[in-house]
Amino acid sequence: MSGHSQSNQDPGTPGEQSRRQFLANASLAIGGVIGLVIAVPCAASLIPESLLKPGTGGGTWAPLSSNELKSFEANTDSPVKMTFGFQYQDGYLPPAEDEQFVWGVKLSPDQVASFRTNRPDLFANPAGKVDYPAIVMNFVIFSSVCPHLGVRYNWDAGAKRFICPGHGSQFSLQGARLAGPAPRGLDPLPFRAQNGKAEVTWIQYKAQEPDRIIVAYS
Ligand code: FES
Repeated sequence: MSGHSQSNQDPGTPGEQSRRQFLANASLAIGGVIGLVIAVPCAASLIPESLLKPGTGGGTWAPLSSNELKSFEANTDSPVKMTFGFQYQDGYLPPAEDEQFVWGVKLSPDQVASFRTNRPDLFANPAGKVDYPAIVMNFVIFSSVCPHLGVRYNWDAGAKRFICPGHGSQFSLQGARLAGPAPRGLDPLPFRAQNGKAEVTWIQYKAQEPDRIIVAYS
Protein backbone atom coordinates (compact mmCIF):
# COMPACT_ATOMS: atom_id res chain seq x y z
CA MET A 1 0.00 0.00 0.00
CA SER A 2 1.03 3.61 -0.26
CA GLY A 3 1.59 3.64 3.51
CA HIS A 4 4.73 1.58 3.01
CA SER A 5 6.32 4.15 0.75
CA GLN A 6 5.30 6.97 3.07
CA SER A 7 6.82 5.30 6.10
CA ASN A 8 10.05 4.61 4.20
CA GLN A 9 10.59 8.28 3.45
CA ASP A 10 10.53 9.33 7.09
CA PRO A 11 12.69 7.45 9.62
CA GLY A 12 10.28 8.52 12.38
CA THR A 13 10.63 8.17 16.12
CA PRO A 14 12.27 5.17 17.82
CA GLY A 15 8.78 3.82 18.55
CA GLU A 16 7.79 4.07 14.92
CA GLN A 17 11.06 2.52 13.80
CA SER A 18 10.59 -0.37 16.19
CA ARG A 19 7.07 -0.89 14.91
CA ARG A 20 8.25 -0.86 11.32
CA GLN A 21 10.89 -3.45 12.12
CA PHE A 22 8.19 -5.67 13.56
CA LEU A 23 6.05 -5.18 10.49
CA ALA A 24 8.99 -5.91 8.23
CA ASN A 25 9.52 -9.12 10.10
CA ALA A 26 5.83 -9.93 10.18
CA SER A 27 5.52 -9.42 6.45
CA LEU A 28 8.10 -12.14 5.99
CA ALA A 29 6.34 -14.53 8.31
CA ILE A 30 5.36 -17.81 6.79
CA GLY A 31 2.04 -17.30 5.05
CA GLY A 32 1.76 -13.79 6.35
CA VAL A 33 -1.27 -14.12 8.61
CA ILE A 34 -0.59 -13.93 12.30
CA GLY A 35 -3.16 -15.55 14.43
CA LEU A 36 -4.17 -16.54 17.84
CA VAL A 37 -5.97 -19.80 18.31
CA ILE A 38 -8.44 -20.04 21.10
CA ALA A 39 -10.86 -22.80 21.77
CA VAL A 40 -14.10 -20.88 21.54
CA PRO A 41 -16.70 -21.89 18.98
CA CYS A 42 -17.11 -19.22 16.34
CA ALA A 43 -19.01 -18.55 13.17
CA ALA A 44 -17.44 -18.57 9.75
CA SER A 45 -14.70 -16.26 8.64
CA LEU A 46 -15.46 -12.59 9.17
CA ILE A 47 -12.39 -11.03 7.64
CA PRO A 48 -13.46 -9.22 4.48
CA GLU A 49 -11.94 -10.31 1.20
CA SER A 50 -10.66 -6.78 0.71
CA LEU A 51 -8.26 -7.25 3.59
CA LEU A 52 -7.09 -10.74 2.78
CA LYS A 53 -5.75 -10.29 -0.70
CA PRO A 54 -4.49 -13.29 -2.65
CA GLY A 55 -1.06 -14.29 -1.55
CA THR A 56 -1.33 -12.91 1.94
CA GLY A 57 -3.21 -15.83 3.41
CA GLY A 58 -1.71 -18.95 4.86
CA GLY A 59 -1.13 -18.54 8.48
CA THR A 60 1.25 -18.74 11.31
CA TRP A 61 -0.97 -19.68 14.20
CA ALA A 62 -0.19 -19.87 17.86
CA PRO A 63 -2.41 -21.29 20.57
CA LEU A 64 -3.34 -19.39 23.67
CA SER A 65 -2.25 -20.93 26.90
CA SER A 66 -5.06 -22.57 28.84
CA ASN A 67 -4.71 -19.96 31.59
CA GLU A 68 -5.07 -17.12 29.12
CA LEU A 69 -8.07 -18.81 27.59
CA LYS A 70 -9.83 -19.25 30.92
CA SER A 71 -9.15 -15.62 31.83
CA PHE A 72 -10.34 -14.38 28.48
CA GLU A 73 -13.63 -16.25 28.63
CA ALA A 74 -14.37 -15.29 32.23
CA ASN A 75 -13.35 -11.65 32.43
CA THR A 76 -15.72 -8.90 31.41
CA ASP A 77 -14.25 -6.19 33.62
CA SER A 78 -10.59 -6.43 32.70
CA PRO A 79 -8.67 -7.30 29.54
CA VAL A 80 -6.47 -10.31 28.95
CA LYS A 81 -3.02 -9.89 27.48
CA MET A 82 -2.57 -12.61 24.90
CA THR A 83 0.82 -13.48 23.54
CA PHE A 84 1.49 -15.34 20.37
CA GLY A 85 4.57 -16.52 18.58
CA PHE A 86 5.29 -16.35 14.90
CA GLN A 87 8.09 -17.37 12.65
CA TYR A 88 9.82 -14.88 10.42
CA GLN A 89 12.81 -14.75 8.13
CA ASP A 90 14.96 -11.65 7.81
CA GLY A 91 16.94 -11.53 4.58
CA TYR A 92 19.29 -14.50 4.30
CA LEU A 93 19.26 -15.23 8.01
CA PRO A 94 17.77 -18.51 9.21
CA PRO A 95 14.07 -18.48 10.21
CA ALA A 96 13.58 -17.15 13.71
CA GLU A 97 10.82 -17.00 16.27
CA ASP A 98 9.34 -13.80 17.62
CA GLU A 99 6.57 -13.03 20.05
CA GLN A 100 3.96 -10.29 20.10
CA PHE A 101 0.79 -9.65 22.05
CA VAL A 102 -2.69 -8.20 21.73
CA TRP A 103 -5.33 -7.32 24.30
CA GLY A 104 -8.55 -9.34 24.40
CA VAL A 105 -11.73 -8.00 25.97
CA LYS A 106 -14.79 -10.13 26.61
CA LEU A 107 -17.95 -8.01 26.59
CA SER A 108 -21.04 -8.80 28.61
CA PRO A 109 -24.37 -8.41 26.76
CA ASP A 110 -24.77 -4.94 28.29
CA GLN A 111 -21.22 -4.02 27.29
CA VAL A 112 -21.89 -5.10 23.71
CA ALA A 113 -24.73 -2.60 23.59
CA SER A 114 -22.66 0.19 25.12
CA PHE A 115 -19.61 -0.53 22.95
CA ARG A 116 -21.29 0.97 19.91
CA THR A 117 -22.15 4.08 21.90
CA ASN A 118 -18.72 4.40 23.48
CA ARG A 119 -16.80 3.80 20.28
CA PRO A 120 -18.49 5.97 17.63
CA ASP A 121 -15.12 6.16 15.88
CA LEU A 122 -15.54 2.52 14.88
CA PHE A 123 -19.12 2.75 13.66
CA ALA A 124 -20.22 6.30 12.92
CA ASN A 125 -17.14 7.92 11.43
CA PRO A 126 -16.79 6.66 7.85
CA ALA A 127 -13.09 7.48 7.64
CA GLY A 128 -12.17 5.92 10.96
CA LYS A 129 -14.42 2.91 11.21
CA VAL A 130 -13.02 -0.49 10.45
CA ASP A 131 -13.94 -2.67 7.50
CA TYR A 132 -14.77 -5.71 9.59
CA PRO A 133 -16.85 -6.49 12.67
CA ALA A 134 -15.15 -5.03 15.72
CA ILE A 135 -17.11 -7.39 17.98
CA VAL A 136 -17.25 -11.09 17.23
CA MET A 137 -18.91 -13.51 19.60
CA ASN A 138 -18.78 -10.74 22.24
CA PHE A 139 -15.00 -10.57 21.92
CA VAL A 140 -12.91 -7.56 20.94
CA ILE A 141 -9.21 -7.83 20.18
CA PHE A 142 -7.14 -4.65 20.41
CA SER A 143 -3.82 -4.07 18.74
CA SER A 144 -1.15 -3.55 21.38
CA VAL A 145 0.20 -0.55 19.47
CA CYS A 146 -0.67 2.90 20.86
CA PRO A 147 -2.21 5.00 18.07
CA HIS A 148 -0.12 7.98 19.14
CA LEU A 149 3.46 6.92 18.39
CA GLY A 150 3.41 3.17 18.59
CA VAL A 151 4.49 2.47 22.16
CA ARG A 152 2.98 -0.67 23.71
CA TYR A 153 0.45 0.35 26.33
CA ASN A 154 -0.56 -1.58 29.44
CA TRP A 155 -3.65 -2.21 31.52
CA ASP A 156 -3.68 -0.44 34.90
CA ALA A 157 -5.87 -2.58 37.15
CA GLY A 158 -6.12 0.13 39.82
CA ALA A 159 -7.16 2.87 37.43
CA LYS A 160 -9.18 0.37 35.36
CA ARG A 161 -7.92 1.80 32.12
CA PHE A 162 -5.21 1.24 29.56
CA ILE A 163 -2.28 3.63 30.08
CA CYS A 164 0.51 4.20 27.61
CA PRO A 165 3.96 4.73 29.14
CA GLY A 166 5.03 6.68 26.06
CA HIS A 167 3.25 9.97 26.60
CA GLY A 168 0.46 9.16 29.00
CA SER A 169 -2.46 8.46 26.72
CA GLN A 170 -5.27 6.64 28.50
CA PHE A 171 -8.05 4.45 27.15
CA SER A 172 -11.12 2.80 28.63
CA LEU A 173 -11.66 -0.96 28.74
CA GLN A 174 -13.57 -0.56 25.49
CA GLY A 175 -10.63 1.29 23.95
CA ALA A 176 -12.12 4.79 23.95
CA ARG A 177 -9.56 7.56 24.32
CA LEU A 178 -9.84 9.17 27.77
CA ALA A 179 -6.74 11.37 27.98
CA GLY A 180 -3.41 12.15 26.40
CA PRO A 181 -2.14 12.90 22.91
CA ALA A 182 -3.43 9.77 21.15
CA PRO A 183 -5.56 10.98 18.21
CA ARG A 184 -8.07 8.11 18.37
CA GLY A 185 -9.19 5.16 20.42
CA LEU A 186 -7.55 1.75 20.38
CA ASP A 187 -7.59 -0.17 17.12
CA PRO A 188 -9.54 -3.44 17.06
CA LEU A 189 -8.21 -6.30 14.97
CA PRO A 190 -10.19 -8.72 12.77
CA PHE A 191 -11.29 -11.78 14.65
CA ARG A 192 -12.61 -14.82 12.86
CA ALA A 193 -13.12 -18.54 13.01
CA GLN A 194 -10.95 -21.02 11.23
CA ASN A 195 -11.70 -24.73 11.49
CA GLY A 196 -13.56 -24.26 14.73
CA LYS A 197 -10.85 -22.06 16.24
CA ALA A 198 -10.68 -18.31 16.56
CA GLU A 199 -7.97 -16.26 14.95
CA VAL A 200 -6.94 -12.64 14.87
CA THR A 201 -5.10 -10.93 12.04
CA TRP A 202 -2.52 -8.25 12.64
CA ILE A 203 -3.23 -4.89 11.02
CA GLN A 204 -0.99 -1.87 11.37
CA TYR A 205 -2.76 1.49 11.32
CA LYS A 206 -1.00 4.78 10.75
CA ALA A 207 0.02 6.57 13.94
CA GLN A 208 -0.92 10.14 14.80
CA GLU A 209 -4.04 10.15 12.62
CA PRO A 210 -7.59 10.58 13.92
CA ASP A 211 -8.80 8.24 11.20
CA ARG A 212 -7.75 4.63 10.71
CA ILE A 213 -5.45 4.40 7.74
CA ILE A 214 -4.06 0.94 7.10
CA VAL A 215 -0.29 0.93 6.73
CA ALA A 216 0.04 -2.83 6.42
CA TYR A 217 -1.63 -6.05 7.31
CA SER A 218 -0.08 -9.41 7.64
S1 FES B 1 2.98 6.50 22.18
FE1 FES B 1 2.56 8.48 22.90
S2 FES B 1 0.92 8.19 24.27
FE2 FES B 1 1.32 6.22 23.51
